[in-house]
Formats: sequence, structure tokens, C-alpha cells
Amino acid sequence: MTQHRPKNNLTRRGFVTAVVGFLGSVISAFITLPGISYLISPGLKKSDTAFWMPLGPVDDLVEGIPKLYTFTKTKRIGWEATGISYGVYVIQKPSGELDVFSNVCTHLSCRYTFREDLDHFFCACHGGHFAKDGAVLAGPPPRPLDRYEHKVEDGIISVHIV
Ligand code: FES
Repeated sequence: MTQHRPKNNLTRRGFVTAVVGFLGSVISAFITLPGISYLISPGLKKSDTAFWMPLGPVDDLVEGIPKLYTFTKTKRIGWEATGISYGVYVIQKPSGELDVFSNVCTHLSCRYTFREDLDHFFCACHGGHFAKDGAVLAGPPPRPLDRYEHKVEDGIISVHIV
């Protein structure tokens, strides 16, 4: 007695095994891909974009006297979230216009302060002196103070942080 075999050598058992294997792969992909995407996506994101930070009412300023504003902002770069502290000096000129400076020294990035006794900015790290318009008066700083782009809307000063 001869046994009948399919011409393409695919048995019923082989067919069922192939279908079950294929369906298992599809189901596995549906389960694992969202998880992998969730884990990888933060690393593919770019850092947070620039933002405008409101500082306070322009009416709080006294002409010619620098006012220091400080705040902390969390920046995310990939998986890493870092709290960055900012210091901003705002000074109102006699014309009413504002000068807005980063409080980071342009020499080696120490934080400078406004010294009332000197009537200008002073960086204690290496003796850097800056005028109230940001110009270098003395010491090693290679350039004037860095400025922030700023605006005043509805009486509120905001700086553009990048
Ligand atoms: S860091 Fe300010 S003078 Fe050197």
C-alpha cells in the first residue's frame, strides 16, 4: 500500500507550526515594540528648546541700579535632566531702555556681583571689573558682559534663554 504525500513536502503539522510561529512573532512584536520605543525615545529627543523667562515688573527697577534676578530651570537632554541656575542683572538706563546681562563672568565663568561701593560689577575670582554698561574696566576678562535678548510686555520684563 502506498502512502500519499503532498507534492510540496508541507505536511499539516508543518503548516500549523509555521502559522503558529508567525502569529507568535506578530504578537511578540506588538507587545515589545512600544516598550522599546518608550525606552529609546528620550535618547533620540533633542534638548529643550529656548524659552522666555518672565523676571518681574519693570516698575521694580531703580534707574542706574542693577537688579539681580535668579531662577532655576530643568533642561532635559536625552535621559538626563539637569537643573540649571541662572542669574540675570537688569539695569535701567536714563533713556528708559534696559541692559540685561548674564551674571556669568566672561573670563572663566565665575558669578560676578554688583558692588555698590565700586559702583560697578566685580568678579572676585580673578579681579575682573565691568562697568554698568557691561564693558571691561580691568582684569583678565577678554570681552564685555554677555547680554540676554529681552522684552517688556504688559510691564513685565522677560529674558530669552537659549
Ligand atoms: S572668572 Fe571672572 S575674572 Fe576670572
